[in-house]
Amino acid sequence: MTFQKRVQAALDNNVITEPIYQNKQHLFTRHDILSLLDYWEFPTYSEKYVPRVIAIENQKGGTGKSTTTALLSTAAALDLDTNARVLLIDLDPQGTLGQGMITRTLDDESVYLTAIDLVLGNTEQEGDYHDLIESGYTESEIIKNSPFNTHLPNLDVLPAFATDERFHDVFWQSDEEIKDKLIERLSKDIIPVLQESYDLIFIDTPPQESPLIWAANEALDCLLIPISPREYDYSSTTNYLLTTASRFEGLPSKGDNLVWSRVLVVNHDEKVKAERDTMDKLSRTAQDKLLSSYIVHSELMVAAAELNRTPLDVMKSEKLCSSKKYDDAISSINSVYKQIIREIKSVSVKEEN
Ligand SMILES: Nc1ncnc2c1ncn2[C@@H]1O[C@H](COP(=O)(O)OP(=O)(O)OP(=O)(O)O)[C@@H](O)[C@H]1O
Ligand SMILES: [Mg+2]
Repeated sequence: MTFQKRVQAALDNNVITEPIYQNKQHLFTRHDILSLLDYWEFPTYSEKYVPRVIAIENQKGGTGKSTTTALLSTAAALDLDTNARVLLIDLDPQGTLGQGMITRTLDDESVYLTAIDLVLGNTEQEGDYHDLIESGYTESEIIKNSPFNTHLPNLDVLPAFATDERFHDVFWQSDEEIKDKLIERLSKDIIPVLQESYDLIFIDTPPQESPLIWAANEALDCLLIPISPREYDYSSTTNYLLTTASRFEGLPSKGDNLVWSRVLVVNHDEKVKAERDTMDKLSRTAQDKLLSSYIVHSELMVAAAELNRTPLDVMKSEKLCSSKKYDDAISSINSVYKQIIREIKSVSVKEEN
């Protein structure tokens, strides 16, 4: 069957809406492209690979965690070959990344649950989660309905709110047994339900080591540490890198869940000699943990972030920067994404394949 006939069959079966024809090309909405892939039975991520939780961490503030999380989850959602359902979880109570990505306007009447609301759900005796259980919803229904849509059909997000800070108070006031339960809750109860709907879950984390980070560490499979090649970021990250294994040993699962960990250089200006020197030092410290591709420093990153977007959601014609800078930023993001997704897939192949 020709492509035209296949498209017509999809139209006749109401799989997609009428595409726009321009210069003899079909212009489909992203939503329709995904419907077509599904209708034509293209392989999905979950047919070939096990789902993965990728946490982006660095105890140092402002090293590019949120930027990296937004870039990777957007790139993954746009990647039709991988064909994965992607969720971004914002675990930073002070962060606004998740809130900036949701398409619906928040109002005072509706109930919004964050990942932390879900984690604390069965510990707290009051609040929205508690009320939903009282009114007859199951835990799994509540979890499944918590993520928000974004502008991309394959990308949902669980935003964070400042009220998530209470996690630390609840944690430190609990006895040892409850503490362990709180650290394991994301991993044991929440992620497995989310993985019925999502293949790749990216978690943005707050700076500084804290029980929130322990909960993320317990839930992750893959750990990505972004670092900007500035001397002070390097010195504070080095110790952190070297102690990763021992920090995981203190967790309930002792770090057995960690299948992949890498250091990613971000916000790198190659023209600056001091940065190249720091890169050099970093490659000696991190060795084979250091990804060879990196994300360039770019004004496009800043301009896109101000619009709650990433460079991947910006068209060149919007002229947020020069054409060359646009191309440089996009190609560095794409090479980083490709390297990371290839490595993650290689440690995620399903046994029966
Ligand atoms: N490649 C880049 N080019 C230019 N600016 C960048 C780049 N990456 C990050 N930045 C800028 O650096 C700042 C810090 O980045 P980001 O918020 O991602 O760091 P973070 O680690 O999440 O910070 P925090 O620890 O506060 O959560 C932001 O203003 C961001 O726009
Ligand atoms: Mg951040």
